Amino acid sequence: MAKIDPQLAKDVKKRRTFAIIAHPDAGKTTLTEKLLLFGGAIQMAGAVKGRKAARHATSDWMEVEQQRGISVTSSVMQFEYDNHVINLLDTPGHEDFSEDTYRVLTAVDAAVMVIDAAKGVEAQTIKLLEVCRLRNTPIITFINKLDREVRDPIDLISEIEEILKLECVPITWPIGMGKTFRGVFSLEKDQLVRFTPGEARVSEDAELIQGLDNPRLDELFPLEMGFVRESIELMQGVSNPFDIEKFLAGEQSPVFFGSGVNNFGVKDVLEALVKWAPDPLPRDGGARQVEPTEQPFTGFVFKIQANMDPKHRDRIAFFRVCSGRYTQGMKVRHLRENRDMKIPNALTFMANDRVSMTDAVAGDIIGIYNHGQLHIGDTLTEGENLGFTGIPYFAPELFRAARAKDPFKAKQLQKGLKELGEEGAIQVFEGEFGNLLLGAVGFLQFEIVAQRLATEYKVDAIYENTDVSTARWLSFPNEDVKKRFTDEQATRLAHDADGNLVYLATSIYNLQTTQKHWPDVEFHTTREKNQTFGE
Ligand code: G4P
Repeated sequence: MAKIDPQLAKDVKKRRTFAIIAHPDAGKTTLTEKLLLFGGAIQMAGAVKGRKAARHATSDWMEVEQQRGISVTSSVMQFEYDNHVINLLDTPGHEDFSEDTYRVLTAVDAAVMVIDAAKGVEAQTIKLLEVCRLRNTPIITFINKLDREVRDPIDLISEIEEILKLECVPITWPIGMGKTFRGVFSLEKDQLVRFTPGEARVSEDAELIQGLDNPRLDELFPLEMGFVRESIELMQGVSNPFDIEKFLAGEQSPVFFGSGVNNFGVKDVLEALVKWAPDPLPRDGGARQVEPTEQPFTGFVFKIQANMDPKHRDRIAFFRVCSGRYTQGMKVRHLRENRDMKIPNALTFMANDRVSMTDAVAGDIIGIYNHGQLHIGDTLTEGENLGFTGIPYFAPELFRAARAKDPFKAKQLQKGLKELGEEGAIQVFEGEFGNLLLGAVGFLQFEIVAQRLATEYKVDAIYENTDVSTARWLSFPNEDVKKRFTDEQATRLAHDADGNLVYLATSIYNLQTTQKHWPDVEFHTTREKNQTFGE
């Protein structure tokens, strides 16, 4: 066992790396901003918000994307809180970019789930939680907007438990809601945390009221306390106590109630992150498990932001450090390309600024400038042959055939789509005759890709409808089955960007029929980077 550098171990222990997951409008942007304010990372409320507002409409979103500097700096935010270094990774709000979100989630060690207390569990929450589940990511739940007329807390908790199959343990409990929202009772500290609308922070000199049966509570909230005590009793009768092991296994979630916009409950979330969320976790490096306190530097790329400067075709690869320490100018091994490369100048992201990074350890995210050498899922080490796993690709649900308007520009189109595919902006499949098929999770992806092909690759793409309605990655029990299947189904097959064989179904019915005919063939709805099918 290699010797552990005590300073490295100490620095790693201080890291917390997480993302906020939420259905659009639940309050993710607001919470992000308040968390940053608490961490002292931004002075001005509205900085994050402004960016989001601009993203709302497609055209605005593109404009923002043109000044990509903004969105890049905001993709990762690092700030300090209570002697810890917190890395908050932003996930795109629009559901059409959910693939991006999934990949970001592979780079975190915990997630904060925001639920709108008036709406409960929503469609996007369900999808995001499924992804967290792939890696058993520990989840802290924040039930937001208690300053509005919302649903009964017991109702909300049961809904989360039933739909998301996630055991909930309320750590705070709301007193009233909407106009009569009085605050929360902390079941952990056994005391009242009072809410005063409009007050930015809970005042330090607030009266300390300890104990749920404290008569002072009845004096203050004569109308509410009966119901509150009843609900807490009911809830505690059916729920288990908080169990850190279950939380770390992604099976149980501590729940906080609050109002992000009023800064209420935000501190609870930060405290829970510091106290309970794991410090950087070991990662599956393919050949072996990599511990965060190991001395050699390792990590993987989980996101690419390309063509920051169209003249230079540069890209920033967002890289999660999994072990060791990044030092400026260090030489690393690029495993996929099997060659060495230097990282002369990595970036870190302090809320609104890009700062040159001189030191990073496991849990931190660094931005590496490159000219296309780095792809999503790439592993860098100091020489060891590893391949971090877990970057998911999902079978797209929307398809378009693509061709260049000007046939002489077919090559440019191919190049552009290859690069945008590598960046993860869209999935690109190549059919038997070299025909290109684009697969997306959301319609907006097609639009963005067309626009970027025009501006960055100077090629106008024409999209055409296809008969493809869904795709599945394939794996075969042996070469014989593979040959018979590929011969029979040739017209319905294509290769993805990494050369994996994909079945293109015209409908779910068509897919089911084919599956029935070929019981030995496996049809996969997701694949992981560094995982190959079809062997
Ligand atoms: P998102 O990133 O998850 O999409 O949500 P965002 O934070 O942008 O919040 C969505 C809306 O909900 C915003 O209102 C925001 O102000 C509001 N909101 C967030 N937290 C709370 C809360 O605790 N209480 C209440 N009452 N509202 C909250 P908007 O009308 O879309 O924008 P704005 O006009 O308020 O800026």
